[in-house]
Amino acid sequence: MITVKTIAEVSAHLDTTFKNRSMGFVPTMGALHEGHLALVRRAAQENASVSASIFVNPIQFNNPEDLKKYPRPIEADLTMLEQAGCNMVFIPEVEEMYPEPSTEVYDFGMLDKVLEGEFRPGHFNGVAVVVKKLFQIMKPQKAYFGEKDYQQLQVIKALVKKEDIGVEIIPCATVREADGLAMSSRNVRLGALERNAAPVIYQALQTVKAQAGRKSVAEVLSNAIKQIESSGVLKVEYFALVDGNTLSPISTWTESPRIIACSAVFAGQIRLIDNLLIIS
Ligand code: PAJ
Repeated sequence: MITVKTIAEVSAHLDTTFKNRSMGFVPTMGALHEGHLALVRRAAQENASVSASIFVNPIQFNNPEDLKKYPRPIEADLTMLEQAGCNMVFIPEVEEMYPEPSTEVYDFGMLDKVLEGEFRPGHFNGVAVVVKKLFQIMKPQKAYFGEKDYQQLQVIKALVKKEDIGVEIIPCATVREADGLAMSSRNVRLGALERNAAPVIYQALQTVKAQAGRKSVAEVLSNAIKQIESSGVLKVEYFALVDGNTLSPISTWTESPRIIACSAVFAGQIRLIDNLLIIS
């Protein structure tokens, strides 16, 4: 696996080592786990070569403490990427990506205002800026994103459409721990109490699916929040049922043909997000 730190080095390799080879790209912020590696393995199956990036993008963090404490186990990440079939990894410094502060502002309508957008202002703008830059640098044909970050996936699809970027976006299913907790780089920061309580988030999402159409939307949401908070360890920031494309909240089961349940939950200081397809 080739490891590069500059845009110039990436370009040089694209023009030589990877010339005329289809490229699948997996952008990450590192602290890799099976969720990330599933994207890399899928990219390896579907493309002649695979590239990845590890860049903890400062402009998508709205909590300075979260940015400071974001785990950065670079050596372990490189070993895992290579084993999963990655051919080139780009690990830029902040100055390489942002020689000047970014001033780009995107408007994705409702898509980046609701759910995560409401509680993390500016987050999706930061994601859109970095992903567009990474696409321009890595020049992939396909790029792989996890459904774990469902709203991010929708924002990226909108970005590609809006900016007419010729990259095919491939959504990949959420990878979970054996007890159902969605894998996340932040899970390693959970204390024992929080880690033990966290699987109830997925259980509540499954309860929603089981109750969909049988009870009112309001009752189902209220039950889910109660289920998550019953341990006394977790605190729900939002739990919503939304249209799968626009992400606008629904209030009846017949309002949309594709309904997703999305949640953000605090386990101590750690914020966990998860989602589940409820009706399609
Ligand atoms: P990061 O959180 O490192 O995630 C990188 C990719 O892995 C994203 O597409 C994310 O959805 C996917 N992923 C994370 N956990 C997953 C899981 N349990 N199952 C399946 N896929 C999972 O998302 C980001 O980084 C950044 O916002 C980024 C797109 C790199 C831009 O900075």
